Amino acid sequence: MTVIDLQHLDKRFGNTPVVRDLNLHIADREFLVLLGPSGCGKTTTMRMIAGLEEPSGGDILFDKQRVNDLPTRGRDVAMVFQNYGLYPHMSVFDNIGYPLKLRGIPREERRVLVERAADRVHLKPFLHRMPRELSGGQRQRVALARAVVRNPRVFLMDEPLSNLDAKLRVTARAEIKHLSEELGVTTVYVTHDQVEAMTLAHRVAVMHDGIIQQLGRPEDIYSDPANAFVAGFIGSPAMNLLPVTAQGGAIRWAGGPAIELQAPGEGAWTLGVRAEDMQLGDGGPGSFSAEVFTFELLGDCTMINLKLDEQVVSVKAPKDLRLGRGARVALRLPLDRLYWFNALTGHRVRS
Ligand SMILES: Nc1ncnc2c1ncn2[C@@H]1O[C@H](COP(=O)(O)OP(=O)(O)O)[C@@H](O)[C@H]1O
Ligand SMILES: [Mg+2]
Repeated sequence: MTVIDLQHLDKRFGNTPVVRDLNLHIADREFLVLLGPSGCGKTTTMRMIAGLEEPSGGDILFDKQRVNDLPTRGRDVAMVFQNYGLYPHMSVFDNIGYPLKLRGIPREERRVLVERAADRVHLKPFLHRMPRELSGGQRQRVALARAVVRNPRVFLMDEPLSNLDAKLRVTARAEIKHLSEELGVTTVYVTHDQVEAMTLAHRVAVMHDGIIQQLGRPEDIYSDPANAFVAGFIGSPAMNLLPVTAQGGAIRWAGGPAIELQAPGEGAWTLGVRAEDMQLGDGGPGSFSAEVFTFELLGDCTMINLKLDEQVVSVKAPKDLRLGRGARVALRLPLDRLYWFNALTGHRVRS
């Protein structure tokens, strides 16, 4: 079992802060996803947990023991990277068995463990191939097998699926989820892909500019975002975020009509609404009409995109609806599913 604590973790490169006062408690057997856009400090955080990068401040604890001064070898973590990091001159068998060899495990025992790990990820027929003779998906599974071949305290995975094509990514994602549930090892998984985060995580830490914006279960991050950044990052499409001005029981966006709607206060707001919560039809508070900017057939649903001011707003609609570009459509904002954010800070204001 391994509990990880990150306490007031800081990392600067020169004068540039990259991770800032990061605090995180990761439970034993938890699957924790660090999610955020490129450059927000995810890999740096993971490398500090691995002992590949030295913190500028703060502590890293494994089971309450400070490991800051423990080298990577002593931390007993297994890593999977985006580029897999396979040894090109070694067979699949030797690649998977390498961590065991490093630890001086005898050859026969090694063979049993390598075959078991290869079996877990359906690689047994490929043990004698070289990495160059494998597809991307197979290479990714070699990297996974090498991580699971011994029982590490912690799995660290950095964008392990991003080199795979979209279809393979879905399969590989399912494999990782299955494997991690089976093995029950504490896992920190880094990705910029919110679908991966939503589908894999027990909890997601959403990062931006080296700071955790929100930590929570996927459903909380989705339905109860702490700020406009999280709201605009999660979901496909992401939440619509409209700059509006509220006055006297109505709101309007630049160049738009006044819409009867009670905001939490007068003045500027960012109004958030998810595409699937928008309602078709008119009448009552929150009603407005708009011109169709583009209309997309997605198979299981359709997407109406409106252009309000400079912004494209998405409305998820039934799959059999057909609308032409330029058509006028009557819509209603869902009064019980609106999110209000401070226009300046982005902080959520609960009405
Ligand atoms: N060794 C380094 N020296 C200087 N800057 C670095 C180094 N490693 C990362 N950075 C910078 O730190 C920031 C965070 O990087 P990283 O943790 O790799 O982000 P992410 O994994 O979220 O994309 C980026 O701006 C990156 O350019
Ligand atoms: Mg990275």
